[in-house]
Amino acid sequence: MCIAKNKLFLFSIIFVLFVLNFFLLLNFLRSGRNLKIQQNISFSHKMHSKYKITCLFCHYKAETNSYANFPTTKDCMMCHIALRTESELLKSVIFSYDSLVPLSFKKTHNLPDYVRFNHSLHINQGIDCATCHGLVEEMDSTFQVRNFTMGWCVECHRQPEKYVIQPREISGIFYAPNESFKLESNPLDSISSKQIITIRRIQPASTECSTCHN
Ligand code: HEC
Ligand code: HEC
Ligand code: HEC
Ligand code: HEC
Ligand code: HEC
Repeated sequence: MCIAKNKLFLFSIIFVLFVLNFFLLLNFLRSGRNLKIQQNISFSHKMHSKYKITCLFCHYKAETNSYANFPTTKDCMMCHIALRTESELLKSVIFSYDSLVPLSFKKTHNLPDYVRFNHSLHINQGIDCATCHGLVEEMDSTFQVRNFTMGWCVECHRQPEKYVIQPREISGIFYAPNESFKLESNPLDSISSKQIITIRRIQPASTECSTCHN
């Protein structure tokens, strides 16, 4: 009788540990860093960036909206109506064009629902995509290069100059620089010492809880 009870107790502990493990693993996976998501539509940033197609060419809504759009069938077909039309890899795009069923891409980056984020506000400050997304132009499948933790958001809001990468040509972000100066010393051999560097001085942003949480 007593042994049976002990066994039940033991089994329930093992069961609880098992379930706990499962949730921890799920939580770990959910954080999403470096995780590649299998898309149904073949697309490589690396391949397209070779031709200097800017990020905002496809993700144009990022400049004016809180979210960054995925390109639509029409956006892809701007080029592929005439380019690589016979390719197996483009079948799903062409099917979508013919059938009017929109393309659907799965999201790699996901903030919890209780966090508010806004692309246009960051981009109009002259914060390059690479600051948060890494070198997407070198990726075949996109993945998240860092965890989007609260600590990171808040740290940058306090001291943006430590984190911000200035706009690069590939991203297509235009911004009004508010200072330009000649480099005194030459930190990089590739930059001629006479070159005028234009920079945007970025002011610290709000760290009030209500900035990011309702
Ligand atoms: C501005 C023009 C342009 C747009 C817009 C564009 N592509 Fe492309 N795409 C290209 C070029 C150029 C190549 C050829 C790359 C190479 O072979 O080096 C290509 C190649 C590809 C290939 C590889 C084809 C093969 O057989 O190797 C796929 C798949 C593809 N694109 C998918 C897409 C999808 C999906 C979209 C929309 C999200 C899109 N492209 C939007 C220009 C474009
Ligand atoms: C030709 C169109 C095109 C261009 C140019 C382009 N992208 Fe994309 N981007 C896509 C498509 C299609 C997806 C969805 C499939 C995927 O994740 O690879 C995507 C996905 C992404 C994602 C993943 C978002 C998420 O959470 O799922 C990021 C980040 C991203 N792009 C950033 C960039 C950056 C940065 C650049 C410039 C270096 C860029 N993209 C240029 C078409 C494009
Ligand atoms: C300050 C950091 C930051 C910058 C700069 C930034 N992003 Fe994002 N991006 C994010 C975050 C955070 C998410 C996840 C948003 C969510 O899940 O609500 C995201 C999501 C995305 C997505 C998925 C769709 C969406 O809106 O959720 C795409 C595509 C994307 N970014 C492209 C870009 C491109 C292109 C640029 C540059 C023009 C850019 N991002 C600049 C932080 C940034
Ligand atoms: C690389 C630096 C940087 C990172 C990382 C960053 N931010 Fe920001 N954020 C800024 C700057 C600079 C502004 C100020 C924009 C302005 O004044 O228009 C800003 C503004 C904002 C605003 C609007 C503030 C207002 O006054 O309305 C929100 C909301 C916000 N950020 C949320 C986030 C969240 C959430 C994250 C993390 C997922 C994040 N930010 C990551 C630099 C950053
Ligand atoms: C600049 C944006 C930003 C500001 C300001 C901010 N948060 Fe957050 N917060 C986030 C993001 C992004 C997450 C989700 C990512 C994570 O869990 O780290 C988050 C998550 C949280 C969570 C859930 C943590 C967890 O582990 O599940 C709590 C609680 C929270 N914030 C409280 C606060 C409080 C209180 C303040 C004010 C002192 C604050 N936040 C200010 C961006 C912000």
